[in-house]
Amino acid sequence: MRKTALITGASKGIGRELAHLFAKDGCNLALVARSAKELDSLKVQLEEKYKVTVHTFFKDLSQPESAQALFDELKAVDIDIDYLVNNAGFGDYGSFAETEWDTYEKMISLNVTTLTHLCHLFIRDIKGRKPGRILNISSTAAFQPGPMMAVYFASKAFVLNFSEAVGHELRKDNITVTTLCPGPTSTNFGEVSGMNASKLIKNIRIAKSADVAKLGYKAMMKGKTIVIHGAQNKFAPFVIRFLPRKWVTRVSAKVMDNSA
Ligand SMILES: NC(=O)c1ccc[n+]([C@@H]2O[C@H](COP(=O)([O-])OP(=O)(O)OC[C@H]3O[C@@H](n4cnc5c(N)ncnc54)[C@H](OP(=O)(O)O)[C@@H]3O)[C@@H](O)[C@H]2O)c1
Repeated sequence: MRKTALITGASKGIGRELAHLFAKDGCNLALVARSAKELDSLKVQLEEKYKVTVHTFFKDLSQPESAQALFDELKAVDIDIDYLVNNAGFGDYGSFAETEWDTYEKMISLNVTTLTHLCHLFIRDIKGRKPGRILNISSTAAFQPGPMMAVYFASKAFVLNFSEAVGHELRKDNITVTTLCPGPTSTNFGEVSGMNASKLIKNIRIAKSADVAKLGYKAMMKGKTIVIHGAQNKFAPFVIRFLPRKWVTRVSAKVMDNSA
């Protein structure tokens, strides 16, 4: 029987590339995002090219209880999920005090609350059937504080720590939890977050979303715990372990600076 993957944030970027990878391997899909037009065209494309069944769910996952609503909708049409990919997320570049609360409320809700709630709902559901695999998209932002994107960096640190802990709890349950940590990647993210103005983006090699998705997909299928994309991106998380935290924050602030 064909397996089914649920991918949040599948309309663009890394999520869209992941949808192609699952479909290419004959997996049916449940795709979630807010943009109906983009999801619908992806559905047609994948069904024609790979002969899989694709269900689309147009949802704002930053809304409270959106995870439960999505779970209920899937159950109502008898869709069991074997692979859960928590990819939807966004950041916002700017000082903490000057950014509106509404932005952070939505960011925490999407990047943290909905991701956690979906894991909770689907792990309980998969546990009765097994096996299952979960892929949570974090970031290289997870490894240090990020002045000018303080909430986003902290949200990705949550995703990494949460995923590692839950993965450990599930080690005997035949359910794996993999965390993908991309560095700067060519998607809509840079524009949505306003991060393109930072020195980080100006001075680092930007990865292709297809390459990042492939790495995450393979790691999830092998049941790996963490995977970081790109040699340059692996260096900082390694070195940081040996430096005083104050230094790390100072260097991070320099990298995140957007002054000319
Ligand atoms: N690109 C990078 O440099 C980078 C680096 C590290 C980590 N990441 C992480 O990678 C993940 C994917 O981002 P990306 O780079 O592919 O960015 P992207 O091109 O902006 O795609 C984000 C996806 O999330 C969906 N999304 C955003 N807000 C949503 C909401 N409220 N409800 C439902 N879906 C929502 C978007 O669809 P709609 O707009 O249609 O809703 C879109 O499909 C994110 O978690 C991001 O934090 C990205």
